[in-house]
Amino acid sequence: MALFQSSTRTIPDAPGVPCHIAIIMDGNGRWAKQRFLPRVAGHQRGVETVRDVVGACRELGIAYLTLFAFSSENWRRPAEEVSFLMQLFLKMLEREVARLHDNNIRLKIIGDRRHFDDKLNGRIAEAEQLTANNTSLTLTVAANYGGRWDIMQAVQAMLRARPELAANFGEAELEPYLSMHYAPEPDLFIRTGGEQRISNFLLWQMAYTELYFTDTLWPAFNREALQAAIRSYQTRERRFGRTSEQLRGEQLQNEQVQGTKDR
Ligand code: IPE
Ligand code: IPE
Ligand code: MG
Repeated sequence: MALFQSSTRTIPDAPGVPCHIAIIMDGNGRWAKQRFLPRVAGHQRGVETVRDVVGACRELGIAYLTLFAFSSENWRRPAEEVSFLMQLFLKMLEREVARLHDNNIRLKIIGDRRHFDDKLNGRIAEAEQLTANNTSLTLTVAANYGGRWDIMQAVQAMLRARPELAANFGEAELEPYLSMHYAPEPDLFIRTGGEQRISNFLLWQMAYTELYFTDTLWPAFNREALQAAIRSYQTRERRFGRTSEQLRGEQLQNEQVQGTKDR
């Protein structure tokens, strides 16, 4: 019997700076409520945290940052809040893209765009096009995104393009059709706001991601808090199913190979 081949990486990275950080930016509403402000004031303030964290990631040499801005379930919120969030997203695209471009940042938007109006979809396309060849940080914003939607749309897109795969396909065949095919899987997941759940974020991609939860509300999150999350990540041993002893053996071997090269 052939062994089941998982596409999850099998060689754990040495615990340096994570290559890909994915964040659920939660707690905006509670931050506002604590200050007797309307919930939307929390979303507004959360934008400043986004700027701070994007800048910090660029400086720290993080290659990929993925932010959950609006989930496929967030449509269930009061209409005024949904409409405010859509307006804020549009405004961000209009105001911030030039700055992202100046900083050599590539912007990607993932999620189901069919519910966005033409204006918003136009801005998204322009922003992605303008920044497509930038090489410092890849910033992905997940908007009207759901992990289950992602897997379903990937299966559908794959079968449209390659109907012969219907009878038999594996992870490697499906992966090019997933929303984040251009990025490695997240190394570190951060959720602010105290809840300890995934809320239908990157379900497929986070199979082996290190999870970090903090009570800090998103508008109060900052560079120092990000660095604390990275420090926690650096203490983890990523085993990808193996034993600690195997990892240490491998490390020793790598050091020996490196030693021979250096000589
Ligand atoms: C996260 O903050 C932002 C979005 C979901 C758009 P919330 O709005 O969920 O804030 P809380 O969880 O109610 O405090
Ligand atoms: C998750 O936060 C989605 C985003 C941050 C965009 P929610 O506040 O919507 O998650 P739940 O409803 O508490 O799980
Ligand atoms: Mg919330």
